[in-house]
Amino acid sequence: MPAFVGRTEPLARLTAAYQAHAAPGGTVPGWAGLVLVIGEAGIGKTTLLTRFASRVRADGGTVVWGTCWDGDQAPAWWPWTQALRGLLDRNPEVSDAAQPELAAIVPELDNHSSVTEADAAARVRVFDAAGQTLARAAGRTPVVVILDDLHSADQSSVELMRFVAHQPQLGALMLVGAYRPYEAPPGVAGSLADLASAAELVPLQGLSAEEVADLVRVIAGEAAQDHWQQLVYERSGGHPFYARELCQLFATAGNLTDVPAAVREVIGRRLARLSPECDTVLDAAAPHPRWAYAAARADWPPCPGAIHDRRHRPTALRERPCRPDGCRSGPATARG
Ligand SMILES: Nc1ncnc2c1ncn2[C@@H]1O[C@H](COP(=O)(O)OP(=O)(O)O)[C@@H](O)[C@H]1O
Ligand SMILES: [Mg+2]
Repeated sequence: MPAFVGRTEPLARLTAAYQAHAAPGGTVPGWAGLVLVIGEAGIGKTTLLTRFASRVRADGGTVVWGTCWDGDQAPAWWPWTQALRGLLDRNPEVSDAAQPELAAIVPELDNHSSVTEADAAARVRVFDAAGQTLARAAGRTPVVVILDDLHSADQSSVELMRFVAHQPQLGALMLVGAYRPYEAPPGVAGSLADLASAAELVPLQGLSAEEVADLVRVIAGEAAQDHWQQLVYERSGGHPFYARELCQLFATAGNLTDVPAAVREVIGRRLARLSPECDTVLDAAAPHPRWAYAAARADWPPCPGAIHDRRHRPTALRERPCRPDGCRSGPATARG
């Protein structure tokens, strides 16, 4: 079992939503619960949902999961294809009763049904077929559908989620989505905003200092916890992926004077997406890591004048190792 620390409150909120909508005797029968977990790459969305899914399974519920793949490369409906396949595999009777339109999402059901994005009425029939299938399955046992990385979804998949959330339900159903803010292309971002307006939102932030200390102990042992918890917390800003990589760097190299390779790569990818103006702001702000982090998150517009003063331009995170005393004069890994 991978290390898992913290996240008490987000887990409690997911569990409460499950109890209300999907568990027997829930307080909101007749409507699917809809929860969206939102946070930047590596902040722990998938880890949290994996934990939640194992709780639901232990409680006797069915969990089906779909993960979106980079928008352009995956076929339409891809996350739903995975999730509904999982549901139909477990429920042959539900599969037998599926409407032919469902073949648009689960192609193996029928190979001559196809629906194009342009055909709006046909698309709603596909939505309805999916909704009926979910309702039938959820009439037998509580069903939780988790769609991860929705920022990479096709628009129809996000809209199907919204459609299902707005239909009265015969069974116990909960929908959970996860995505990174600011990363969806405009059409999908608009659909995610519509979806969010109907959802309970669970934004994920960094781990607390105590939770990072727990993570250091679990990954690198108690001695490491005493020596490195503060530094790992400062350098990661509580970001669990960065914290984990720093711990592993400690465990293997015995020091924390560099930026772990995997972290470098993730931050590099993130910086590559920024506008030249924002890059300029980051360069100027890098000697003050917290400003730079805020700038990277908000994609600040360029500031006038002062940002062009490159006296403090860092040779950048990619090149400069940090000092083991806390890295105050250099960029923090939390910058990305
Ligand atoms: N609550 C947690 N406890 C321990 N490690 C975590 C936690 N959340 C995330 N991590 C670590 O950070 C990594 C990235 O988390 P992940 O869930 O994949 O992020 P996201 O899905 O938001 O991109 C995980 O592989 C795991 O090692
Ligand atoms: Mg993830």
